[in-house]
Amino acid sequence: MSEQDSKRATLSIKKRTVASPSARDDKPRLRAGARGRQVAQLKLAKDKVKRAVETPTEVVASKDEQFTSTYTAAPPKTRSPRSSGPKALPQVRDTRHTEEKIFVPQTTLFVPHGNDIEYFHVFAPCPMGLEEALAAELNALGYDGVSATRAGCHFMADWSGIQRANLYSRLATRILVRLGQAPVQREDDILELARSVTWERWFGAEHTLRVDTSAVKSPMQSLQYCNLRAKDGICDRLRELEGERPSIDTVRPDARVHLFLSHDTATLYLDTSGESLFKRGWRLDKGDAPLRENLAAGILALAGWDPEAALLDPFCGSGTILIEAAWIALGVPPGITRPFGFERLRDHDASRWEDVKDEARSRILPELETPLIGIDADPLAIEAAQRNAERAYLTEDTIRFELGDARDATAPAPTGWIVTNPPYGERLDEEDLEFWREWATNLKREFAGWQVNIITSDLDLPKHLRLKANRRTPVFNGALDCRLFNFELVAASYRD
Ligand SMILES: C[S@@+](CC[C@H](N)C(=O)[O-])C[C@H]1O[C@@H](n2cnc3c(N)ncnc32)[C@H](O)[C@@H]1O
Repeated sequence: MSEQDSKRATLSIKKRTVASPSARDDKPRLRAGARGRQVAQLKLAKDKVKRAVETPTEVVASKDEQFTSTYTAAPPKTRSPRSSGPKALPQVRDTRHTEEKIFVPQTTLFVPHGNDIEYFHVFAPCPMGLEEALAAELNALGYDGVSATRAGCHFMADWSGIQRANLYSRLATRILVRLGQAPVQREDDILELARSVTWERWFGAEHTLRVDTSAVKSPMQSLQYCNLRAKDGICDRLRELEGERPSIDTVRPDARVHLFLSHDTATLYLDTSGESLFKRGWRLDKGDAPLRENLAAGILALAGWDPEAALLDPFCGSGTILIEAAWIALGVPPGITRPFGFERLRDHDASRWEDVKDEARSRILPELETPLIGIDADPLAIEAAQRNAERAYLTEDTIRFELGDARDATAPAPTGWIVTNPPYGERLDEEDLEFWREWATNLKREFAGWQVNIITSDLDLPKHLRLKANRRTPVFNGALDCRLFNFELVAASYRD
């Protein structure tokens, strides 16, 4: 959702026009076999990590092995006659750089392990409220030095780890590599800082450039001028060294630099992502106020959804939460179908990157046994969700999208998770209040034993639903201050 969208005053609650088909008619799928298979395969993966750690003959390879294996929530690909799951993902090849090149660092920024791998300070911004969840994700991916801060996380990674963070992080918005930092008092200090960074390692006159500036409590008068100083410093250095400077392209630059200003410090980051990471590549149809993909993945993480348990989004809109869930459950890396900024930088090893992606693809599960169900009262939203799922390479039966009314929903399994982003309005009238009461009645009657997680900017929602929130987690949806409310619908407490 764009900032402009997020400021939209009211979203209408659709009238009850459609009778929901009974989801109870569909028997829950058996999962015992899959669970057993998964446990056995996880053990195999762990053994593989152990072997790699025990035989550190080649430092980079063993580090990579640890990394990918740590991430492996999904077991290796197995053949199955069932059709549910991802369609074949396209093999996108970059033919611009085909020669084998080994990445040789020119300056060492940080070498924590006493070996010759160069480590970088990395900052991964994320939607506010997801910082701890992102830190948990980065730790699970095997990174060192992970620390959560406002709207993002710091961590350490070598270049291959930086590429993999782009490929695997579901919650980060970008992966920014810190290349320069200094105390600053005047705009000209930014020029000096920008001139001191070895940009020539990453890009030059053959690239186009964009510089963005953001600031928190910076005393600088004009951020635009600061931006100009950073850009001038970069271009001056490259012209002096190489005779020419990059030209500026704000729409589709090859290289992006972010200048961040705090009250007394300037930091220069190389953006390795290019387009924001929430742009996975599958969403073209948006519907009403869609969630960003990394926020959807984040609320699934905060909700504690178990990828083997049933998931229902009764206000599914364009299907963001369910498509993210399907990719999580199948082990599809969120960046597998999109390009990244680092692919356009100097010395990008395209063939090695293809190997990384091939390896990631080989671990995608062929099928899903988890019931994933989306309901929406708007036929256009259902169509958009179906088109998005198709673009996400999901077969038709991976997610069941149904036209229906949330107030008539029935549980597809005895237990499971509802994770949803219902319509919200600035001022609720009596009709809206009646809507929430009717939905609450449906939840209590049909979903006893389920976990209900609702992201909304209506901080009084528990009151409207007459339910006591178990947890309320502050999270921002763009500029909107929201809460993720968790309700546990315990069977006994809602009878009568
Ligand atoms: C905020 S949007 C959900 C956006 C969604 N999370 C996405 O990422 O696209 C709320 C959705 O609720 C749907 N809706 C409104 N009233 C409904 C009702 N009574 N039953 C089911 N869906 C309803 C709207 O059509 C809209 O698609």
